[in-house]
Amino acid sequence: MSTKSVDKLTSAEAAKELDRLAREIAEHDRHYYLQDAPVISDAEYDALRRRNAEIEARFPRLIRPDSPSHRIGARPSEKFAKVRHAVPMLSLDNAFSDEDVADFIGRVRRFLGLKDDDAVAVMAEPKIDGLSASLRYENGIFVQGATRGDGEEGEDITANLRTISDIPLRLSGRPPKVLEVRGEVYMTHKAFAALNKRQEKEGKPVYANPRNSAAGSVRQLDPKITAGRALNFFAYAWGEISDMPADTQHGILQKFESYGFVVNPLVRRCETLEQVLKFYRDIEARRAKLGYDIDGVVYKVDRLDLQERLGLVSRSPRWAIAHKFPAEQAETVIEAIEIQVGRTGKLAPVARLKPVTVGGVVVQNATLHNEDEIARLDARVGDTVVIQRAGDVIPQILRVILEKRPRNSRPYHFPHKCPVCGSHAVREVDEKTGREDVDRRCTGGLICDAQTVERLKYFVGRDQFDIEGLGGTLIELFHERGLLKEPADIFALTEKPKKVAAILAEHRARLSEERRAAEGKEPVKTKGKKKADEGEGKQVENLMAAIERRRTIGLDRFINALGIRHVGETTARLLARHYRSLGAFLAGMKAGNVKEELESIEGIGGVVAEAIFDFFDEPHNVKALDRLLKWLTVTDMAAPANSSPVSGKTVVFTGTLEKMTRQEAKARAESLGAKVSGSVSAKTDIVVAGPGAGSKLKEAQKHNVQVLDEDAWLKLISA
Ligand code: IVH
Repeated sequence: MSTKSVDKLTSAEAAKELDRLAREIAEHDRHYYLQDAPVISDAEYDALRRRNAEIEARFPRLIRPDSPSHRIGARPSEKFAKVRHAVPMLSLDNAFSDEDVADFIGRVRRFLGLKDDDAVAVMAEPKIDGLSASLRYENGIFVQGATRGDGEEGEDITANLRTISDIPLRLSGRPPKVLEVRGEVYMTHKAFAALNKRQEKEGKPVYANPRNSAAGSVRQLDPKITAGRALNFFAYAWGEISDMPADTQHGILQKFESYGFVVNPLVRRCETLEQVLKFYRDIEARRAKLGYDIDGVVYKVDRLDLQERLGLVSRSPRWAIAHKFPAEQAETVIEAIEIQVGRTGKLAPVARLKPVTVGGVVVQNATLHNEDEIARLDARVGDTVVIQRAGDVIPQILRVILEKRPRNSRPYHFPHKCPVCGSHAVREVDEKTGREDVDRRCTGGLICDAQTVERLKYFVGRDQFDIEGLGGTLIELFHERGLLKEPADIFALTEKPKKVAAILAEHRARLSEERRAAEGKEPVKTKGKKKADEGEGKQVENLMAAIERRRTIGLDRFINALGIRHVGETTARLLARHYRSLGAFLAGMKAGNVKEELESIEGIGGVVAEAIFDFFDEPHNVKALDRLLKWLTVTDMAAPANSSPVSGKTVVFTGTLEKMTRQEAKARAESLGAKVSGSVSAKTDIVVAGPGAGSKLKEAQKHNVQVLDEDAWLKLISA
């Protein structure tokens, strides 16, 4: 820590120190919360945070987006009990323009096979900018409350939610026996201002915005603290429900009110696109005066039977969309342009900006996307630019203000070599279209350290193997020391406790050394050594245990972790649902008709199929995979509906369907656990043939496959 008193710091010194403090405190948080092995005493830790708060108080413009002061109370995620949601908590797709909304309505119509003039009534609701929570009531009594978490599993914050007066502890009226009400916990502008005033007075860090403060408040370990914070709750959705009290979104919201919940008073049922867009504009005009933050409007198909038919794509419902308000903008200066090399070798240019506040958040990096984008903007170091930030999306550069360009500025030249491994970086040419890819990629592949390290970081990430305590900096260090090259090596670490201990010690030493150096003190070898040793033993043990725990993993996470290009969480889940078991998946990847089979999966197109094929066509990948699998038990993907008569069956649709669109038929079959294929073979179980069926029907007869007409099929799946 610098010994200079805060009021003597120049703003450059302050910025530098805030940067260091943010990283250092985050690192200590990881030690403390994730590894339960603090490297420094509580007093030392508090001193770091105090120093950070003092500097921020003097230089509010320098408050960083990753400042530790935004994160009070948000850290102890491992300290709350986990709650598995009976029904997953979904997220919403976004619309940014009127056209996007029109497309949404059009998609709904097409999916349901409605005509252009058939009305699709939707509920329009303000999108509250807080944090979502799920409240479980049994026989009308509030029994459990949870955060959203990753949508599947959240944290038990029952005690804290009980302190919110908008959340009834006992319901009125005649609620269903089991009722999970979902909605948003938020803080009003007034309460937010009062809280920050109090925090400041008590010398505690202030929150960046009402959403962060609401999140920080419900995640306090001591419910008394939550009780002291004025929080509110709007109800807008539900999870498990023993019997439906209404058959429209509108009707349910009315029921919620009758049970004692607060429903946003602005919600409105709209019949036409015009009404929907008018509602959006009205709300936008009233936004600043509402007294709480909203970041858009949510539209939901009103009829619940239609919602059910529309179903989900990945984790978002097809029947709802969030229409976001336009992003906020600000002006700042590009101080540098840096290139980051990603896991697929993509050279990603990042603009380092003079820190600027946009919509209450300090921004100092913006993406420049790619070479063409830099050329289009003609963005140069030293340029003054207009940036925009929307929600949690990485800020973008909109344009350069040419009048403010320094006279000596020079155009930016995009590197043609990888800045990490020096290999050529090229833009691939699409064989079919002859078009150049927008991204320049490092050709170093397996020899490029940046790619290797990024792949490993991805592998242990939250949506992949989620190995606690093995963060980015440690991965880098293990890689530097030659212990990590490929995923299998992570599991091999469990057989090298001595080496791991040495590296963890080095990591800790590095951290505290950096701190000492920054404080201008001599390195101290003996002081606190015993305490450190104990913490260290525990740290090794914890890391080993965390790795060991992940030797059993679900098929979807496993596929996601492979880091195949274009295959993220969503596609991985589609693949896992389709193949169900690791055996079937690997066999499928070796089969002759891989691409065809992949493309028959709803949601997977040609580019993705090609990328998956390429991955398994590369012997290096197959070998690395074999080595990895020696360590793992990959569990099957459960069929969504086990009892369904078609679960596990392979179904082919052919001919014209009259009761539903092909898309709906396919989605429905898949949600019942069937596998939908595009071609008939001996492995096909059922062919659903409508009028006009041709060669596929013949093929079915040849292989003796069961053939059903649409009605018989519908009867079968509704059985
Ligand atoms: S509905 C099935 N309605 O927005 C859909 N969400 O981006 C579940 N949100 O996680 C959400 N206001 O935290 C819905 N009126 C509203 C909302 C709302 C705010 C939040 C919610 C959700 C996020 C999705």
